[in-house]
This record gives sequence, C-alpha cells and structure tokens, in this order.
Amino acid sequence: MTTLDIPELALVALVGVSGCGKSTFARRHFAPSQVLSSDVFRAMVSDDENDQSASSDAFDALHHVAGLRLRRGRLTVVDATNLQPHARAGLVRVAREHDVLPVAIVLDVPEALAWERTQGRADRTHGRQVLARMQRDLRRSYGLLAREGFRKVHVLRGVEEIDAAEVRYERLF
Ligand code: GTP
Ligand code: MG
Repeated sequence: MTTLDIPELALVALVGVSGCGKSTFARRHFAPSQVLSSDVFRAMVSDDENDQSASSDAFDALHHVAGLRLRRGRLTVVDATNLQPHARAGLVRVAREHDVLPVAIVLDVPEALAWERTQGRADRTHGRQVLARMQRDLRRSYGLLAREGFRKVHVLRGVEEIDAAEVRYERLF
C-alpha cells in the first residue's frame, strides 16, 4: 500500500494524461463536493465539457470556487490534467493566496493503457497525437512540480500502485 500524506487543509492537484484515471481516483478517495473538475466547469460555462475554447472561462470559475473553499478551510481537489506549468501556476497562486499548501498527486499509467481506455470512451474524441503530447508534458512535469511550489509531490506509477494508494490526513496543529 502507498500512503499519500496530505495536510488536512490542502489544494490537491491531480496530474496525469487523459485516461490515466484521475476522475476515478477522485471519486474513490474524496467526497464529490471536494472535487472541482475542469470538465464540470467547462460544461457549466459552455454546455459542452469537451469545448476547449471554454477552458479559459472554465478555469477562471474553477479557481474562484477553489479560492472560496480554501478561504473556508475546506480541502479541495482539482481534477484536471494539470500537465502544463501555466495551468499549475494558477493553482499554486490560489493556494498561496489562502496560505494553503499545494500538493500534487501524479497518476502515471502506460501511454498504451491510457489510449486503450480512451478508445472505449464515448466522452473523449482526442486522437493519438494529442495523448502523445500529454505524455510528453507529463515527463517534463516531473522535474518542475517541486520548483513550482508544490510542497508534496506524490507519484503513483502503474495501475497497481494507483489501486493500492490510500490517503492519510496530516493534522495541521
Ligand atoms: P480525463 O478526464 O479524460 O482526463 O481522464 P481521467 O484521467 O479522469 O480518467 P478516468 O478516471 O475517467 O478513467 C478513464 C477510463 O479508465 C474510464 O473508463 C475508467 O472507468 C477507466 N479506469 C480508470 N481507472 C481505472 C482502474 O483503476 N481500473 C480500471 N480497470 N479502469 C479504470
Ligand atoms: Mg476525468
């Protein structure tokens, strides 16, 4: 079992390519109200969870809600790919503004598995090249996360490690 130590109050960024299992992991370990999903916010502002042109507005709204939650002292999990430095910078900023620790949980599955899963999904239409780009962004992310300000970086490699992970909350005081 891999124990993921997370401060009781944290902003948790899930990091991983489409199909790695972020939403599944979030459902398993966190309450629905704790999870802010980029898909849900895209749908909220555009009626289409896959409308990439809605991403900027969706993330504005997501960051705003994350900030409100952190101000109220509520643990918040961001279910988005979080593969690019600029996307993560927005989360680190919100966390810092509220004196909350940003934590990253990286879910790293073989690209072939993520692709196999993607092909079986009606809610995803991106091609192989898009997934390959995400995988490259993930590789680059490893060296960046701690420097970007993530205070803990938990990495789960492969389906078995992801399945066996448990979250343990650290008391702040
Ligand atoms: P995006 O939202 O596209 O970024 O993907 P995601 O990372 O949220 O992946 P999601 O949790 O939606 O999982 C993608 C597909 O893989 C779904 O059909 C899941 O049912 C399946 N899946 C996720 N995790 C597991 C797992 O641990 N075991 C198995 N068998 N299937 C999984
Ligand atoms: Mg998802």
